[in-house]
Amino acid sequence: MSEASGLGAGPTPRGAAALPRGAALAPSLLSADFARLGEEIAAVRDGGAGLLHLDVMDGHFVPNLTIGPPVVASVRRVTDLPLDVHLMIEQPDRYIERFVEAGADMISVHQETVPHLHRTIALIRQLGAAAGVALNPATPVGTLEAILPDLDFVLLMSVNPGFGGQRFIPSSIGKVRAVRRMVQERGLATRIEVDGGIGAETLPALLEAGADLFVAGSAVYDGRDPRARTAALVALLSPPGRRG
Ligand code: DX5
Ligand code: ZN
Repeated sequence: MSEASGLGAGPTPRGAAALPRGAALAPSLLSADFARLGEEIAAVRDGGAGLLHLDVMDGHFVPNLTIGPPVVASVRRVTDLPLDVHLMIEQPDRYIERFVEAGADMISVHQETVPHLHRTIALIRQLGAAAGVALNPATPVGTLEAILPDLDFVLLMSVNPGFGGQRFIPSSIGKVRAVRRMVQERGLATRIEVDGGIGAETLPALLEAGADLFVAGSAVYDGRDPRARTAALVALLSPPGRRG
């Protein structure tokens, strides 16, 4: 498989080089205690997290509000983990540059929000971040067909975006398998990220289906020991048969 990705959208961006190699866990700060964000980040880093997932919501595309560029900039100052910014906002083009300036290494936009996806993806990559397209559970993977060679990663939602702690939607596993096949058939190095309802029960089937970046919010932070919870999930990424 080629190491290059996104050949259709210019040179490999800085953010793509920051991506962890192989399977990695991306704790979502959405379920963290924002009054203790520095400690919450240090805990998952110690537990073996490969990147940090930051959920940006606008109260329009999704029925919830979260963070903006200032919080991303604060997180950037306390960690060297790659920052994976998931934009669940309408008109994301208006804000992409500010998130990259704040320190985002990866930016995903929802296909459902963007009329000129190729232009938006090129903008993200020109600014130096790795570019991803997120798909809601009801959006077919066939909609990736034309844009796939231009992407550093695909983000498949396994819940309807907007909230942490929702139940995993099982049809997501088939979507992961289908995107893995598309990536392989084209000889691409596009990463496949999954997000929503991921924990010890759901992660192994997603790994087997071909996902490589695993977002986990409540499974990491809805408890007393995010370091241990991260380590337990990271251990599932390299089961005995696949070690080495
Ligand atoms: C939901 C967000 C997720 C969320 C996942 O819209 O995109 O990243 O934090 O939370 P869990 O892992 O609890 O489903
Ligand atoms: Zn997310």
